[in-house]
Amino acid sequence: MHRGLRCFICACAVGWTGSAPLAVDLHRLWEDRCANCHGEAGDFARRFLSVQGDALQGAHPDRELRRFLQNHYLKNNEIDGVYTMLLAQAGSDPRFKERCTPCHAKAAQLARESLIRRDGVLYTRGSRRPLDDFMQQHAALPAGEAAFFAGLLERVEREVHRP
Ligand code: HEC
Ligand code: HEC
Repeated sequence: MHRGLRCFICACAVGWTGSAPLAVDLHRLWEDRCANCHGEAGDFARRFLSVQGDALQGAHPDRELRRFLQNHYLKNNEIDGVYTMLLAQAGSDPRFKERCTPCHAKAAQLARESLIRRDGVLYTRGSRRPLDDFMQQHAALPAGEAAFFAGLLERVEREVHRP
């Protein structure tokens, strides 16, 4: 068989067997499948879930949430992502909502529409500046806060473009 063709077939087979999972936008997934019953992910996580050690904890102390999610509206390759997103949200305060939503929509939308990743670094789409630098001079943030918001958008950008 032609060598190039054989490699092409291998690559397809890897894709089909699921060892290279399809990209998932976790925030869209939540809006499509979870928000009807639970509202906004961040609000839900902060209100009903907490972080115990490095695990997510809900209302029932003996419920292992990663296992619970396996039988709760999610497919295999989505469980880890949703679990990790809820864990991050449960452990963070609603600062984006307080400081940024007066002018911007949700963090996920800002990440989808206003950020681009090149060689692993995030840049703003409009001004083409590294996100870290941009945040230093944006919205009159006190020292330390810029890094917080750059980190938050870094996480959310990964959640909307999860490989
Ligand atoms: C049709 C309504 C409905 C949908 C859709 C739904 N859930 Fe739930 N979910 C519930 C109910 C009701 C409970 C409480 C069940 C219980 O405690 O036994 C729950 C519980 C949970 C819990 C555990 C809360 C705790 O305190 O233990 C998590 C986490 C959760 N849902 C995540 C999700 C995610 C993620 C999605 C989307 C993929 C989703 N849910 C979709 C109704 C829903
Ligand atoms: C008073 C209104 C206002 C607030 C508050 C605000 N922004 Fe902005 N933001 C803007 C405007 C207007 C732009 C577009 C102009 C520019 O690039 O400065 C922008 C642009 C951005 C961009 C770049 C978009 C692009 O395409 O280049 C990012 C990222 C951003 N804001 C993040 C944040 C974050 C995070 C917060 C919360 C700490 C925040 N902003 C708070 C008004 C605001």
